[in-house]
Amino acid sequence: MLFKQQALLRQKLFVLGSLAIGSLLYLVARVGSLDRLQPLCPIDGRFGPRSQDEIPLRALQFKRGLLHELKQQLPKAIIIGVRKGGTRALLEMLNLHPAVVKASQEIHFFDNDENYAKGIEWYRKKMPFSYPHQITIEKSPAYFITEEVPERIYKMNSSIKLLIIVREPTTRAISDYTQVLEGKERKNKTYYKFEKLAIDPNTCEVNTKYKAVRTSIYTKHLERWLKYFPIEQFHIVDGDRLITEPLPELQLVEKFLNLPPRISQYNLYFNVTRGFYCLRFNIVFNKCLAGSKGRIHPEVDTSVITKLRKFFHPFNQKFYQITGRTFNWP
Ligand code: A3P
Repeated sequence: MLFKQQALLRQKLFVLGSLAIGSLLYLVARVGSLDRLQPLCPIDGRFGPRSQDEIPLRALQFKRGLLHELKQQLPKAIIIGVRKGGTRALLEMLNLHPAVVKASQEIHFFDNDENYAKGIEWYRKKMPFSYPHQITIEKSPAYFITEEVPERIYKMNSSIKLLIIVREPTTRAISDYTQVLEGKERKNKTYYKFEKLAIDPNTCEVNTKYKAVRTSIYTKHLERWLKYFPIEQFHIVDGDRLITEPLPELQLVEKFLNLPPRISQYNLYFNVTRGFYCLRFNIVFNKCLAGSKGRIHPEVDTSVITKLRKFFHPFNQKFYQITGRTFNWP
């Protein structure tokens, strides 16, 4: 009797087990085929028509895929500048997107003759590994102001997307100065005051030979780039807004890069101690930018600030006109 009951129980367990395994196998097969055939349909409609370079949505869910698909890909978008505009913050924040993979270091391939002579394969080998559906982004702010760079990038990829992050030009120039000053102080060297560098003591006019001033004449540099690339290939990021309200700026970039919106407010939290937004990748992993970002600027004579702002004004107007993006710069 006991033997018979045990046999019956074993039979029942076998049937239940087979059913469970069968259902599991069915589910796995179904989810797999669904994923391939209809990649998250509702999202398709939400982001308008699919363009050729749009990324398959299934792949966007995770930063993973098949191991053998991992390759070092040339960048499809480059943050070309502007130095001290917030280029690092922009790169790190974009990297929150599952379809974006950043090159962590500034490569300086196109602006450095020695590196450029090493060839495009050298450049590609500097890129991080990524899946085919992902886009690699690098940032080297020196690209924006270096003469040879537009032509060199054009030769690599004439349809590349170019990101330029700008800040109010006088603030940017002071930030630029602050970075150099800190470098000098670290080496126990003395340095001129900002006022002395920015204003020509002989003419009392703005010193256009001073690099920090020249870099802030955005329109002059952009005009050189426009000899190679149409304006549609550029996206201008408001660096001042990226500091105070990063999400809308990042959403504009997602759109420009044809990426479905994946970066959310969850990924960005304001850190009171740092005084900046920091990044939250998931429940355990978050990070703020290094302390070298967000330095305290030295106080600058208000008459010098006024002079600089007046100087930049006509260039800014031209910049707004060319780019179609207006800022409230004084
Ligand atoms: P300051 O140091 O003048 O404040 P870059 O990366 O191009 O060198 O730009 C540095 C600037 O990025 C900093 O300039 C800082 O204001 C700005 N920035 C924007 N968002 C930031 C963030 N979330 N954390 C730190 N710095 C940020």
